[in-house]
Amino acid sequence: MLKYLVQVFILSHVVASKKHPEPYYGTKIGPLVEFAHGIKGTAYAVDETTIFIKGFSYDGTGPDAFFWIGNSPRPSPEGTFIPYPEDYHEREPPVLKAHNNSDIILRLPMGKRIRDIRWLSVWCRRFTVDFGEVFIPPNLEVPKPRVLPEFKRLAHGLRSDNISILDAKTFYIPNLHYDGAGPDAYFWVGNGTEPTAFGYKVPNELGSLEPLRGYLGEDIEIQLPGTLTVYDIDWLAVWCVQFRHNFGHVMIPKDLDVPPALGQTKISPPWWYNPTTTTTAQPAPTNCREFLDKRLQVKWIMKGDHVEITLSARISEDKYIAFGLSGGNNKAQMIGADVTIAYFDKDERSFRAEDYYISHASQCDGKSGVCPDERIGGRNDVTVLHGERHNGITTIKYSKPLHTNEAINDRPIPDNEPVSIIAAFGPLNSRKEANAHTYKDRLDTDVQINFSDMNDHQCTLSLDNMPEDGVLAWPQSKIIGDNTFYVKIGPTGGNKGYPKITGMPSWGICYYINDKLIPELTVERGQTYTFVVEAGESSSNPARFHPIYITDSNEGAYAQLSKDKQRKQQIYAGVGYGADGKAYPMTTGRYCEWTHKSIDKSAESDTFEDFMKTLRLECDEGEPAYLNWTVPMDAPDLLYYQCFIHSNLGWKIHIVDPGYISEQNGRTANKATGKSLPIGISLISLATIIQTILHRRQ
Ligand SMILES: *[C@@H]1O[C@H](CO)[C@@H](O)[C@H](O)[C@H]1NC(C)=O
Ligand SMILES: *[C@@H]1O[C@H](CO)[C@@H](O)[C@H](O)[C@H]1NC(C)=O
Ligand SMILES: *[C@@H]1O[C@H](CO)[C@@H](O)[C@H](O)[C@H]1NC(C)=O
Ligand SMILES: *[C@@H]1O[C@H](CO)[C@@H](O)[C@H](O)[C@H]1NC(C)=O
Ligand SMILES: *[C@@H]1O[C@H](CO)[C@@H](O)[C@H](O)[C@H]1NC(C)=O
Repeated sequence: MLKYLVQVFILSHVVASKKHPEPYYGTKIGPLVEFAHGIKGTAYAVDETTIFIKGFSYDGTGPDAFFWIGNSPRPSPEGTFIPYPEDYHEREPPVLKAHNNSDIILRLPMGKRIRDIRWLSVWCRRFTVDFGEVFIPPNLEVPKPRVLPEFKRLAHGLRSDNISILDAKTFYIPNLHYDGAGPDAYFWVGNGTEPTAFGYKVPNELGSLEPLRGYLGEDIEIQLPGTLTVYDIDWLAVWCVQFRHNFGHVMIPKDLDVPPALGQTKISPPWWYNPTTTTTAQPAPTNCREFLDKRLQVKWIMKGDHVEITLSARISEDKYIAFGLSGGNNKAQMIGADVTIAYFDKDERSFRAEDYYISHASQCDGKSGVCPDERIGGRNDVTVLHGERHNGITTIKYSKPLHTNEAINDRPIPDNEPVSIIAAFGPLNSRKEANAHTYKDRLDTDVQINFSDMNDHQCTLSLDNMPEDGVLAWPQSKIIGDNTFYVKIGPTGGNKGYPKITGMPSWGICYYINDKLIPELTVERGQTYTFVVEAGESSSNPARFHPIYITDSNEGAYAQLSKDKQRKQQIYAGVGYGADGKAYPMTTGRYCEWTHKSIDKSAESDTFEDFMKTLRLECDEGEPAYLNWTVPMDAPDLLYYQCFIHSNLGWKIHIVDPGYISEQNGRTANKATGKSLPIGISLISLATIIQTILHRRQ
């Protein structure tokens, strides 16, 4: 994967801190002692799970050499590889190549920490020879991330959980909420006792300097730009540049001692994020199934004598995903099950997968219950290959052997026939072991998987549409056959509305058309449609100014885009251009909003219709705006109605060929009456189309 390719760091990218002698690479472990093949370099502890080797050299002539770690008294065959470089696709890393004064980042595998090992060696496995080594001093003080308070909640619904400084350039902001309504807001850093206009923009989690979109409880990482480090700033804020308005901030303490920023903190767009298109990138063609109301996605592929399994779910950081072989044939049974418990360890900031055996449906008491194999005299046969957490979704890929030599704790994975599996979500206890899960969070019917299958693709959701805690969206409403669309503003319907329906973030309000929540519209090419828009008329009140326009963008917010981005967006209606060539919105009318009679009742409302009963319409004085749109004959099949100012208020318009809608209506009417369709209707609609086209030509 691309993000792992950058392994060797150029000195100028190394960022020093004020506190330490420059340049700072972490706590010094010591020089590598050479026994053979020109081994050189100095090792540093960057953080609990990362070692940096400055100036590594090796002649590359050993036949079977690896970076090797262990906790025996001296380097020995009782060790483990460090997966280096990280982008290999085999079961083992490739044999170590020659290096001449390279800077190397080594991430310890399988959640191992520096305190768990006694030495690092360049080790030739075939001949069990130590080419060079360094010992980890006992009680080595390793730089650690620093936990800060949360964002102050000053405006626009900005809030978060406690923010962490992961390293000298990287912030981790969990559970970030922001309504996205600031017209020109950014992450912003600077000096002084509180945020001011003298500051620097910080790119968002995707590395972009666009104005911030809305966030709905996402966990993100952002990195300071250029040579700035956390030692150079006094605060991190969300700041509106245009109106010099602080939406909330957190102060950075002066007594920091955090890991250096050598690039060990992975920051990269999620693998399904594809900046050039808006469609979801398809993952590699492994097998895929969804379980637990589509809340758990399991991908697998058999490779020789082991199987690689990827689990993805939208779960909070204190939860685990359990997946494995059922304890009984043809039924979902916990007792006797051999499962893997996978989770994100938020304290260590690493991903874990542990082999469990379930002898009783109770918490592990050290002998029986739901126990890690390692606690009952067995071995953890599961290896974590990859883990990531983005937008609240945890994805962990691990490898498990089909057969082990532990007859008691491990059930063999059959390599040519289906087997019953079980799956669950649940909370971790304080030992980070699996606690009991609720009935709703476990598979209770028999499901079988043939692990040797090559072609079992039953997944229907992309990861970002994955529901949380089993809350399903209200059904998508549709408008087909109407020619007039009454556009107003209303609440997004919490966890059942806009974000679930669209899979995109929302900031609390969205369009209601003909009193439906972001309906999908269907329109015919050549037909004229009228939008009666009551979504605000004054740009001086941005929170109540949402002029609609028609575009090919699934986010909208044309006004916020850079010139380059604007050129990429095609506009179909609702936008005028001034003498200076500047775009302005034409659909400015009075403001009407559906508001909560009391508080948001979306969680208690089974249907959108129930929810509507908890709303009341409030309108300002004034007139609506009218937009008449004749759909061009060459319009693409999918367009969107969106807000000219803010992103993510609207949704889809399906464009169909002339006659399609009346044909559909005819078909349903036909079904209902059981009579055949009179030919006259299609002739009439054909006449209308021709008329419309002629009308447009004039
Ligand atoms: C390593 O690089 C240096 C400087 O580029 C060069 O002088 C030296 O010969 C190289 N050593 C080896 C073993 O290639
Ligand atoms: C979060 O920050 C507050 C305020 O600094 C602090 O009291 C609390 O202990 C922090 N929580 C965690 C989990 O670190
Ligand atoms: C803040 O002040 C420090 C020392 O006064 C300086 O080194 C640093 O560059 C300043 N940071 C910014 C962002 O201006
Ligand atoms: C399991 O899948 C493999 C590979 O597709 C196939 O050869 C085998 O027949 C399947 N077994 C059963 C019992 O369906
Ligand atoms: C838009 O269409 C409506 C109804 O077809 C018509 O009454 C109105 O005059 C039109 N408005 C504009 C600005 O063309």
